[in-house]
Amino acid sequence: MPASRWVSSSTESAATRRRYHPGRDFRRALNIEELRRVARRRVPGFAWEYVEGGAEDELALARNRQAFDGWRFVPRTLVDTTGRHLRTSVFGREQSLPLVIAPTGLNGVLRRGGDVMLARAAAAAGIPFCLSTVANARADEIVRGAGGRVWMQLYALNAPGLVEDVVARAEAAGCEALVFTTDANVFGSREWDRRSFRAPGKLAPRMLLDVLGHPRWMLDVMVPHGLPPFVNVMDFLPPEARTAKSGVSRIPALFAPSISWDDVARLRERWPRKLVIKGILDPADVERAVRIGCDGVVLTNHGGRQLDSAPAPIEMLPEIARAHGARITIFVDGGFRRGSDILKAIALGAHAVMLGRATLYGLAAGGEAGASHALGILGSEADRVLGQLGCRSLADLTPAMLREGAPTMPGTG
Ligand SMILES: Cc1cc2nc3c(=O)[nH]c(=O)nc-3n(C[C@H](O)[C@H](O)[C@H](O)COP(=O)(O)O)c2cc1C
Repeated sequence: MPASRWVSSSTESAATRRRYHPGRDFRRALNIEELRRVARRRVPGFAWEYVEGGAEDELALARNRQAFDGWRFVPRTLVDTTGRHLRTSVFGREQSLPLVIAPTGLNGVLRRGGDVMLARAAAAAGIPFCLSTVANARADEIVRGAGGRVWMQLYALNAPGLVEDVVARAEAAGCEALVFTTDANVFGSREWDRRSFRAPGKLAPRMLLDVLGHPRWMLDVMVPHGLPPFVNVMDFLPPEARTAKSGVSRIPALFAPSISWDDVARLRERWPRKLVIKGILDPADVERAVRIGCDGVVLTNHGGRQLDSAPAPIEMLPEIARAHGARITIFVDGGFRRGSDILKAIALGAHAVMLGRATLYGLAAGGEAGASHALGILGSEADRVLGQLGCRSLADLTPAMLREGAPTMPGTG
């Protein structure tokens, strides 16, 4: 989101100049961008780069945001929208918002216990939470500590026994869905993230200094045992590589270029509940997922962290939803930062949206309450826009309400 759209102008006096909340109180954040800025102040630079960065030139990362500007809503007027709501049903269960918290690894680098905090915020908002394979908590801890609807994400890492262990634990914990991530067969080069380190697992001196400037973060995250370990993966690493520090540098090499549709078929046989494939952008791949009997697909480019030349998932949504929307549950993610973004995706045929960084900003800025604040912002924005569009529920949103084309930027038309 370019700052120039929000914060202007050099002719105003410093006292009256537009600016975001400059402090650390997440409750003062009126939107996700403002929450992002609060989050930025609370965590050291290397942790921020890990969350924020994309692959290579960060083109996919930027495209994820820009793509929303290409769609404009044409509202219907004079419709009574009293009593409107955002309820929907995902996998046969009603939820208050069309949202799922996406799997993100190493949440404990933002807040100790970050996974449980996010899961609690999701449960309080009545939406599912998806735990990552490279999380800092196990599925049963999340189920015990948060309740609600818990999904488990699977990376089929090249470590014998790991897949069965993750699947068996998810099953025993009662996870509702298994989300198999397929777009990390080869680990993306997040160059800005890598620049935080002078050697594998060793922070660059400027990043070390920056850590010292965040004593509250250090007390919360680093004291007394250091970064929290990758508990789901740890037992499958050599003993000397089981710490979080060495895991960060070892795990990327475990991503398996051999994963294929045969793995999906095997998972379909093994996993008795909802099976979701996360990492799809090609309509033909959705067709294969349907044929194998998957229950859902996530249209995603991994938040711009993998293939840098990938399209924004929302660009692929209309074609995929038209062809397959009645046959499989379609999730989409990437760059969702406004309630209107969510409604655009629903209008284009998504059943629900996954949130990655939006709730991570909340977590970094204010723990569980901060993540709830992020969900609250998005929920109230979506509710407001729904009313402004003359819609009473998500079912009223259709592609016909959207116009596509290059956005007309202020001052150019
Ligand atoms: C810090 C971070 C860690 C992530 N870790 C995982 C992961 O472990 N597994 C996975 O399938 N996707 C992972 N993702 C991708 C997200 O699930 C999601 O696809 C992406 O964040 C959506 O884009 P957004 O952040 O713009 O909302 C991660 C994303 C971020 C930002």
